[in-house]
Amino acid sequence: MQVNDQSFRFEESVDLRRVLELDPQMTSEIFDLFPDSIYYFCYVNSVLVGHLAIQMAKNMGHIVIDGENMAGRSYIWAVEIIEEYRGKGLGFRMMKEVLQPDGKYFLRVEKDNVAAINLYKKLGFKFYKENTRIVDGKEVIRDIMSR
Ligand SMILES: CC(C)(COP(=O)(O)OP(=O)(O)OC[C@H]1O[C@@H](n2cnc3c(N)ncnc32)[C@H](O)[C@@H]1OP(=O)(O)O)[C@@H](O)C(=O)NCCC(=O)NCCS
Repeated sequence: MQVNDQSFRFEESVDLRRVLELDPQMTSEIFDLFPDSIYYFCYVNSVLVGHLAIQMAKNMGHIVIDGENMAGRSYIWAVEIIEEYRGKGLGFRMMKEVLQPDGKYFLRVEKDNVAAINLYKKLGFKFYKENTRIVDGKEVIRDIMSR
């Protein structure tokens, strides 16, 4: 499946139902945590293939993530391209569309998620600090990255 400029479409929205369509594991609780987020949807030939969610810095003042108050930086809390469309440059392209060239951002990524870490590095993100949490009795190590 080729992805060219004609087949690619990008849309900003507050319609959360489309995120749930893509990722049924997401629950509405996450939306309540970041109520002022903006969602971006990526389409290829009208097929919804990816999304990105971001809580803008202006709404981050009171939010503490893993003990860090990253006020002044927008928080990218979801990035996903559906499996069959991965590795075609769409994740990179979607993030390039959303991120302001001089914007300040942070995100969290699991330590073994090589694809995502490489994508973020390619976009100028750098390791900020490690964070360990116990999720369902298992240790999950994540990197906080920022730029
Ligand atoms: C992470 C993700 C969004 C990347 O999207 P993608 O469209 O496949 O990525 P792209 O094709 O745009 O690749 C951009 C860069 O990411 C890195 N990358 C992508 N896939 C990779 C892989 N399988 N292995 C290593 N690096 C990879 C590369 O640096 C690549 O640049 P290059 O092509 O110049 O080498 C996608 O793999 C995904 O949705 N994963 C599941 C959800 C997820 O883990 N989200 C992140 C949560 S923090």
